Amino acid sequence: MINFTSWLSKIKLPFFSNFEIYFDFGTSTTKIAIKDKGVLLREPAYLGYNSRTNDYLFFGTEAKSIIGKTPDFIKIIRPVVGGVISDFDAQVALVKKFLDRSVNLYFSNQMIKPALTGIAIIPPIATEIEQKAVEESLYKAGVSRVFLIEKPLATASGCNLNIFSHQPNLIADLGGGLIELSIVGSGGIISQKTLKNAGDNMNKLIYNYIYLKYGVILGEATCEELKINLLNFDSVEKNAIIRGKSLETGLPKSVRIKTSDIKEALLTNFNQIIDAIKELIESSPPEIVDEVITHGIILTGGLSLIKGLDKFFEQEIKIKVLGQENYQYATINGLAKLARHKDELTKLIIR
Ligand SMILES: Nc1ncnc2c1ncn2[C@@H]1O[C@H](COP(=O)(O)OP(=O)(O)OP(=O)(O)O)[C@@H](O)[C@H]1O
Ligand SMILES: [Mg+2]
Repeated sequence: MINFTSWLSKIKLPFFSNFEIYFDFGTSTTKIAIKDKGVLLREPAYLGYNSRTNDYLFFGTEAKSIIGKTPDFIKIIRPVVGGVISDFDAQVALVKKFLDRSVNLYFSNQMIKPALTGIAIIPPIATEIEQKAVEESLYKAGVSRVFLIEKPLATASGCNLNIFSHQPNLIADLGGGLIELSIVGSGGIISQKTLKNAGDNMNKLIYNYIYLKYGVILGEATCEELKINLLNFDSVEKNAIIRGKSLETGLPKSVRIKTSDIKEALLTNFNQIIDAIKELIESSPPEIVDEVITHGIILTGGLSLIKGLDKFFEQEIKIKVLGQENYQYATINGLAKLARHKDELTKLIIR
């Protein structure tokens, strides 16, 4: 007798096939990729919410570009804070919109949309409830099946490391919400340290520094621009004239900000990261320390784009530090890479 189910599963009509999507819900940017096609979307994780009509109006790049410029009833929301979902409804709205802008375009002329399988990364510090929030937000956004894997494994894979090899590697992912220091090997995380003084915290430190030193109040976006445009550890002194609000008069005031200002504002923060890397190495068994010294520390994440940061870390830690080419894509590319080998991927799924 013909087994109808097994017969049906052999038919590979395009709309029956399972469509696989990869998600990296970073604090600063959401990245979405699909199987065999690579990254389809990379947009700031921001939304504009109209508190009068209870609607989400602006998403991604547009929402980030209007911070501080909207009427009071439009709030700019960041659904991911410190690497985890802090506003569930906003996250669902953002994922739905981003799926429409990327994945759903593939089905615009198909009558039946295929079932979507989503694989998302989760920071090791995420609690059970925070993991569930990622899972549930994807179901609510229309994904039929969801799997989660630990972020450092995807990031390491995206840094061209074989995470299943027995050679441990230390990866420092310097992102917007988290500094994740992970020693990865033999298909898992050997040891890990996470700090929350990442890119967002640095923007706040710049805000405080300029406020105290020059008496000028800056917007969040300006603080981030100063970090991106002026900060470097290559001893290149740059400067920029920026306009903020005077603390004294409340009127616009221009000041010239130098690289040395930004460095001074952030030096303690960078030293805390360096200390955490040293502690992670010091608390590791001698075999691992030996491997890390031999193979070096791998830097990735958006903050790794700061010029000369690798050399500065190298000088302070006295271990070779290696940069990556695709700093902001390491995690999502690594996730797509790991998903190519289903037998290995199944060993990594935590939920
Ligand atoms: N050229 C640059 N120079 C300095 N900092 C940068 C540069 N480009 C991006 N950044 C900073 O990198 C951070 C974002 O990095 P990334 O995209 O890796 O974070 P994320 O994956 O969204 O967050 P997380 O993984 O921490 O949850 C932001 O703080 C941003 O200001
Ligand atoms: Mg990240």
